[in-house]
Amino acid sequence: MHPSKESLIKLFSYYRDAEIRGAALLMKMMQREKDPEAQVLFSRHIDDETHHAWLWTRRIKQEGGWPVEVPDGYQRRLGKALGIPTNNFDLFALTVVVEERAGRRYQEHIESPLCDDKTRDLLIEISNDEKWHIAWMEDWLMKMARARGSEEEGRARLAHYRDQEAIVFEEMKEFERGWLGFSFSDTSADLSAANLKGSQVQVG
Ligand SMILES: [Fe+2]
Ligand SMILES: [Fe+2]
Repeated sequence: MHPSKESLIKLFSYYRDAEIRGAALLMKMMQREKDPEAQVLFSRHIDDETHHAWLWTRRIKQEGGWPVEVPDGYQRRLGKALGIPTNNFDLFALTVVVEERAGRRYQEHIESPLCDDKTRDLLIEISNDEKWHIAWMEDWLMKMARARGSEEEGRARLAHYRDQEAIVFEEMKEFERGWLGFSFSDTSADLSAANLKGSQVQVG
């Protein structure tokens, strides 16, 4: 069974929510960071994330729906698990990790045999922006780390957040499977295995 329209609207609302929360966090970070070059990069980055939120909103409208409230989104779970850092050094590290995840997750959705063509086109368009988001934020994090002594501190902080985030993302995949019957991060092999276990998911 392919995902129902209602399930897709929920999932697109979840992506939309993540983009909006991402933009809101970037705005807070921009206000703290006084460097003029960072001001330019933040402005362009926020423009992208709010545009992504609009693209998901438009995709929901294409399906004839309205955005739905996302009760326990990814960022909220992440905040509960990690605590939201109050300094920009940690916020940069956390944001790099969250952007990496967004990029990987969108790629997994693109590769899912259950992805429809309209959604795939949109995911490809958005993914092209996510690459430079990771690049500039990681560069800036390393610049901050060098000013604090060495890049090692930046790398250690990234490793810490990657470990913590991976746990939260596994929980999100379980949540998604409960919600849709499968996760768009599942591979064809995972989906076939679920099928053998008597799930309703059909690949192809
Ligand atoms: Fe985005
Ligand atoms: Fe992004």
